Amino acid sequence: GSCLESVKIAIDTGYRHIDGAFVYYNEHEVGQAIREKIAEGRIKREDIFYCGKLWNTCHPPELVRPTLEKTLKILQLDYVDLYIIELPMAFKPGDAIYPKDENGKMIYHETDLCATWEAMEACKDAGLAKSIGVSNFNRRQLEMILNKPGLKYKPVSNQVECHPYFTQPKLLEFCRQHDIVIVGYSPLGTSRDETWVNVSSPPLLKDPVLNAIGKKYNKTAAQVALRFSIQRGVVVIPKSFNPQRIRENFQIFDFSLTEKEMKEIEALNKNVRYVELLM
Ligand code: A2P
Repeated sequence: GSCLESVKIAIDTGYRHIDGAFVYYNEHEVGQAIREKIAEGRIKREDIFYCGKLWNTCHPPELVRPTLEKTLKILQLDYVDLYIIELPMAFKPGDAIYPKDENGKMIYHETDLCATWEAMEACKDAGLAKSIGVSNFNRRQLEMILNKPGLKYKPVSNQVECHPYFTQPKLLEFCRQHDIVIVGYSPLGTSRDETWVNVSSPPLLKDPVLNAIGKKYNKTAAQVALRFSIQRGVVVIPKSFNPQRIRENFQIFDFSLTEKEMKEIEALNKNVRYVELLM
């Protein structure tokens, strides 16, 4: 229920881009929040930008459309605004989200990412997804799609970890050249949940530079981190279940960082991921 409440508060606050996935197990709550806000007359469906994701066990081309249709059924929506391949590696298809053998080793699956992409293109043609993109793709994986013979649609976006401690300068430049939007996940440095986060990298929001710059503008380190990303053209998807912080993270359009401050923050890059995706 906390997701339902948070999405409703976010929509009331002014958020329109909602980043979801089947594997977050809360798409039913997200869909309900959107539908309730439409029923209240606060928004129209076309005001919302919902991003869904194709999980690793669903890469075989014949599974792509049924998987998206399942997401739409859970959301109770007719289309998603963006559908993305969540990760470039495939797991064995089946009910297990993390299929493992008897020794606890992940079972991978040979698939052709280009064939998966063609199935994504078909979803766009069918009107089930307005746009299609990818996530956690490196330059070579992007090039594989971009250079695919007969490519119909380019990925519009690549969702990757991006924040002041992991600024992705080279990937950002490559994507700029190819008109691919970078959507930065963990823009606040994650929840530092040790089950999936590399906590040996220090907490982003404790950073002295972000805090000092924030003081000047009467903003928090979180607001400075988000402002930094949007000012360099990176879309941010901050996560919060806390109403006050949901609102705080939206108050970033009434100030701007100077070029010198942008450089200072860029210099914080440690080139270390919080989300190592070791699987
Ligand atoms: P909470 O849900 O209690 O607000 P990311 O978006 O980088 O994954 O970070 C999410 C984490 O950051 C969550 O643990 C969230 O906790 C916390 N968080 C979100 N907004 C703020 C904020 N403005 N200040 C401090 N922590 C925040």
